[in-house]
Amino acid sequence: MIELTIQNARVLLSFYLHMNQQTSNVVQFYTGEQIPLELHKVRVVQKLYLVPVERRLAAIGEAGYNTFQLSTRDVYLDMLTDSGVNAMSDNQIAAMLRADDAYAGSQSFARLEEAVKEVFGKKYLLPAHQGRAAENILAHAYVKPGDVVPMNYHFTTTHALIDLNGGKIEELVADEALQLASDNPFKGNMDIAKLRDCISLYGVDKIPFVRMEASTNLIGGQPFSIANLREVRAVCDEFGLRLVLDASLIGENAYFVKTREAEFKNSSCAEILKTMCELADIVYFSARKVSSARGGGICTNNLDIIKEMQHLIPLFEGFLTYGGISVREIEAMAVGLYETTDETVISQSPSFIEYFIREMVRLGIPCVTPAGGLGAHIDAGSFLPHIPQSQYPAGALAAAFFIASGVRGMERGTISSVRDEQGNDVPANVELLRLAFPRRVFTLSQIRYVIDRMKWLYDNRDLIGGLEFVEEPPVLRFFMGRLKPTSDWPDKLAAKFRQDFGQSL
Ligand code: F0G
Repeated sequence: MIELTIQNARVLLSFYLHMNQQTSNVVQFYTGEQIPLELHKVRVVQKLYLVPVERRLAAIGEAGYNTFQLSTRDVYLDMLTDSGVNAMSDNQIAAMLRADDAYAGSQSFARLEEAVKEVFGKKYLLPAHQGRAAENILAHAYVKPGDVVPMNYHFTTTHALIDLNGGKIEELVADEALQLASDNPFKGNMDIAKLRDCISLYGVDKIPFVRMEASTNLIGGQPFSIANLREVRAVCDEFGLRLVLDASLIGENAYFVKTREAEFKNSSCAEILKTMCELADIVYFSARKVSSARGGGICTNNLDIIKEMQHLIPLFEGFLTYGGISVREIEAMAVGLYETTDETVISQSPSFIEYFIREMVRLGIPCVTPAGGLGAHIDAGSFLPHIPQSQYPAGALAAAFFIASGVRGMERGTISSVRDEQGNDVPANVELLRLAFPRRVFTLSQIRYVIDRMKWLYDNRDLIGGLEFVEEPPVLRFFMGRLKPTSDWPDKLAAKFRQDFGQSL
């Protein structure tokens, strides 16, 4: 029997790091053609169903015009999210087989701690079953009624959990970050003048921590620069504030730093990742994204911080050596973390997104530029200028695109926002249809199909109408809410599809 020890984990680590040094993602075509090339092969496949437009129309109706409520039986390409659905590697699956099932003191957890130390440079790890569970622990430990958490931009669950603990958020990206079409390479940067104003307005005592989110999700997967993170760190040091980094999409942010920030063009993604984490007091993550396995965690080098939070882990998550995560997934997380430093792994999704966005721009279809991480984002406000925000253009576009293609995207606009204290709908800053590109899941011909159907829908955009709520949950309404169309526009759209595509699916 093979003895599985930390020593073995170190051998594995040096194997992964060695692989990283040998590989690069730069491949030039002789013909000059500019397409991304897959640096992996597919060895396990899943059958997909592309159901006829009539079934797609019925399915979105049954789902209350909410793509979260669709069954994958009706979905052709599932571009809802990259969370928990990235392709896992052969090494991740292999690692799952040697998991050490123990409630306490599992060697699997020791291997994960080792990976966190190597990849994030943090000594102490608290496990949590996913990213929002880590946010729950952080909010519970630090946010008091009346507190304010400055951040570059919110994520839905972060916002909801800070609210739940009586705090509020302040979003401090530069105004330009909300200009959807732009050539600013770092729209996720925090505006330092706004941060200083925020601190002087609320006072240090009201600010439990400052939060920076890597590859800022809700503004289109847009990165921050290390230069900016250093400036945020300097302000935090000046005022004695903790800096918390949401590292769920840190691999992509590292890739953008390497390709867009001159100082780091010769650094490895592993070095960049560590540089970013070093600047934060606390790093937390959704492992579902960062390491392509289902879990999460909080890590730091500060034992006092651990003491402030660790009692909450057995209460909300599970014992300190599994935190509600299956030990098999813990093994896959450890391997996935090392693989996140591999440029050929981390570049795949951004390079496909970039290809897709290049085609959108060529076809004149409004979208978020520059291309970001995690997914491509269509500017639903400009796509559907005839639909007022009160009728949810991003939600309507998600439903219409499903009817047109069988591709499931996600609304990231007003439906994903929360009502104000008086119960009024608050129009979102941006109305986006997000098409996620989970790592190493789709082929280029599938992406070309998405481009083709998006072009058809754009040419037929006048047929699309609005939506209204019929059932609206009080929190995170986008998950479970049910809506209906404001007219019979979905039937007309499906009829036009049939007319244009004949017998085709
Ligand atoms: N932070 C960020 C930046 C995220 O993108 C997510 C999840 C979370 C925290 C919460 O992590 O899902 O593991 O609880 N994003 C997913 C998405 C849900 O589809 O963008 P989780």
